[in-house]
Amino acid sequence: MTDQPTDIVFAALKQMQANGVHLRGSLDSCERLRATASAASAAPRTVSRAPQPAAAAPASAETRSRPENAPKITFSIAPEAKGRESVAPVSKSGSSEKSAQLNALRGPVLACTKCPHLVQSRTQVVFGVGNPDADVMFVGEAPGADEDLVGEPFVGKAGQTLTKMIDAMNFRRADVYIANILKCRPNTPPGESGNRKPTHAEMDVCKPYLLRQIEIIQPKVIVALGGIAVEGLLGIDKAGIAQMRGTWKEFRGIPMMPTFHPSYLLHNPSNTEKRKVWEDMLAVLERLGHEITAKQRGYFLAK
Ligand code: URA
Repeated sequence: MTDQPTDIVFAALKQMQANGVHLRGSLDSCERLRATASAASAAPRTVSRAPQPAAAAPASAETRSRPENAPKITFSIAPEAKGRESVAPVSKSGSSEKSAQLNALRGPVLACTKCPHLVQSRTQVVFGVGNPDADVMFVGEAPGADEDLVGEPFVGKAGQTLTKMIDAMNFRRADVYIANILKCRPNTPPGESGNRKPTHAEMDVCKPYLLRQIEIIQPKVIVALGGIAVEGLLGIDKAGIAQMRGTWKEFRGIPMMPTFHPSYLLHNPSNTEKRKVWEDMLAVLERLGHEITAKQRGYFLAK
């Protein structure tokens, strides 16, 4: 099957490997991404919106309380999200215009050479993905190896956790917008694998691209994923994400919710930690005026 972009990439990589080319990412990893992308693209790419208008005030402790006996789940796709019908796209204001503006930005960003060390090491620039008219924008720090290979943010293991979180919020990835502060994968010393955190200097150089994306999309809420993203966005030295998460901040007039990076949950997969992130997402849903089911309110609560 070669009808998905990831299928085409996979076939090309396999051919390259067969020809003796050394690949930095494994085909296993590409296969996993291919499976994820196929599953994601199987869902109709339409916008779904809850009927309520955005709430003006931050969520209070009272509005965030939830039943004690709500069932416990993992970050798996919420059944109500899986089975639900798509709602016809709703335009906030000039969504095709936003799409055109993002496309106009994409060219220069993809061709960016401001960081020669990253130009040298990157496979490609990772621009951002999702609904140009999204209410929620998730902002991460920088692409990792998987994202560098595929050209889309949050498609690796941390990305799968983020996708499950988005599903549990009753959104699809195509409903929200996902981007990073740094658009290129931070390089690693020769012979080393793994992902390096972006430096503040690298984020400062790249940040204007994210600012322009935010300016075009005009999300109602920004979710900053992890301390580095918070530091990059707010231009601060040490975010102290454990203290900062769950408390509303503001980024250029837009409410911003700092939360743990999805990779934190991969290393700390207890329900207690998942619940913290989930409470942050409940606060986001409340801020947007979305209806929250009793089931959603109970995710990750101890019985
Ligand atoms: N971590 C990030 O911050 N961004 C990605 O795109 C992937 C992992």
